[in-house]
Amino acid sequence: MPGIIVVGLQWGDEGKGKVIDLFSRNASHIVRSQGGSNAGHTILERGKSWAFHHIPSGILRSPVHCYIAGGCVLDPQVLIREMQEIESNGVDIMGRLHISPYAHLVFPHHRKLDDLTEKERGEQAIGTTKRGIGPCLSDRASRIGIRLAELIRPDIFEQKLASFVSAKNRELVMLYESEEIPFEEILKEYSSYGELLRHFVSDVEGRLQEALIRDETVLFEGAHGTLLDDVFGSYPFVTSSSTIAAGVCAGAGVGPCQIDDVFGVLKAYTTRVGEGPLPTAIEKDYQEDFEGAEDLREMGTTTGRPRRIGWLDLVAAREAIRLNGVGNLVLTKLDVLDQFSEVKLCRGYRLDGKEIDKLPPLTEDLSRVEPIYEILPGWQSSTRQVKKIRGLPKNARAFVEAIEDFFDVPIVMISVGPDRDQTIEIDEEWM
Ligand code: GDP
Ligand code: IMO
Ligand code: MG
Repeated sequence: MPGIIVVGLQWGDEGKGKVIDLFSRNASHIVRSQGGSNAGHTILERGKSWAFHHIPSGILRSPVHCYIAGGCVLDPQVLIREMQEIESNGVDIMGRLHISPYAHLVFPHHRKLDDLTEKERGEQAIGTTKRGIGPCLSDRASRIGIRLAELIRPDIFEQKLASFVSAKNRELVMLYESEEIPFEEILKEYSSYGELLRHFVSDVEGRLQEALIRDETVLFEGAHGTLLDDVFGSYPFVTSSSTIAAGVCAGAGVGPCQIDDVFGVLKAYTTRVGEGPLPTAIEKDYQEDFEGAEDLREMGTTTGRPRRIGWLDLVAAREAIRLNGVGNLVLTKLDVLDQFSEVKLCRGYRLDGKEIDKLPPLTEDLSRVEPIYEILPGWQSSTRQVKKIRGLPKNARAFVEAIEDFFDVPIVMISVGPDRDQTIEIDEEWM
């Protein structure tokens, strides 16, 4: 099975990092190809917790090769910090980490503008990660951005940077009455990044093509979540890039026919960090149960903000499955529901008295829908040590089956804890 995409089916933080880390034991290449350091993928490896923003989650599994493809936007400061942390823990990255020259760079102006535009939005703020992602991608689309290809060519970089900084400083001063960021400072800082990163720049897209032709397994690690997609998500409360499987392909320079399967990662409940509607937000009565859930791990990996929590929204997830062409599902964080006496699944919405079974395109409508729930009995026992589906408590199995039946897509793996071995593999034949 050479080309496999893993995407999140909700508003991010579904546990993609853990799934990629698990899948990477059978893969030769792992690729990030969209978004940037706004992503935060956490994995637990032999008791140590790692948070990756740029580097694919497979990096800990030597000799797997990891790639940051041209569709990503790159914050050199964050990337280099991440590289240093990995190396200082004894993991070799030289010759294993490959970065595309096509990747656009995040500059301090982008982070500053992200912050200023959020402040200007006031009550309508999106709740961005303030990593400069939106402003950087706007510049890419406006064709004034600077890429890694230019950064590693000092003769070209200085001149490009001069016109970029002058345009961006004008924006900072004239639109926001903010201070200029000095050109010389950025030139010095980024030139040193260029010197370091040049050793990792390579023909990523070409290497991936060759690997696919050789029939080697290439795993594409989706970032963010489908409902944060800049076209089909709850606009404008979305990120600024395509988060669906097709966007993953576009960012990696890979055609849709080169993909063999799309795995959708679905958390057994829903979370959202940042603003925007969350139709299945939990009611006060259940808040304590979620807060009390052992090892919930629902603090933003990138920003440290607490994530809002809701019941599993099957309507939204079904749309996400269709948008990605998902062929197999991985259900995560089932253990978080272990202690509940009852659990809820949202099977439809009510809007202005009418039942609907799709996400309304208007975000104002999405924030008004009332969820229609099926209430199932809880299982009130720990699933964390369960290794086989038949070992799950009866009510937990019924919960899993209800989800599978609703989508008519198989659940091939269930995660019951953050550790690698806290996993139930139902279908081990996919690779
Ligand atoms: P990602 O952005 O989709 O990779 O997800 P994050 O890493 O941001 O957030 C998921 C969090 O849940 C991390 O802290 C994981 O270690 C943790 N996690 C993953 N799978 C499970 C699980 O099955 N159960 C529990 N309790 N935690 C999990
Ligand atoms: P992973 O890959 C959760 C959200 C932000 C905000 C919105 C826009 O870890 O699942 P941005 O900084 O992208 O302009 O913010 O998108 N967001 C995420 N939320 N997980 C993520 O990534 C996210 N990436 C972006 O919180 O609501
Ligand atoms: Mg995350």
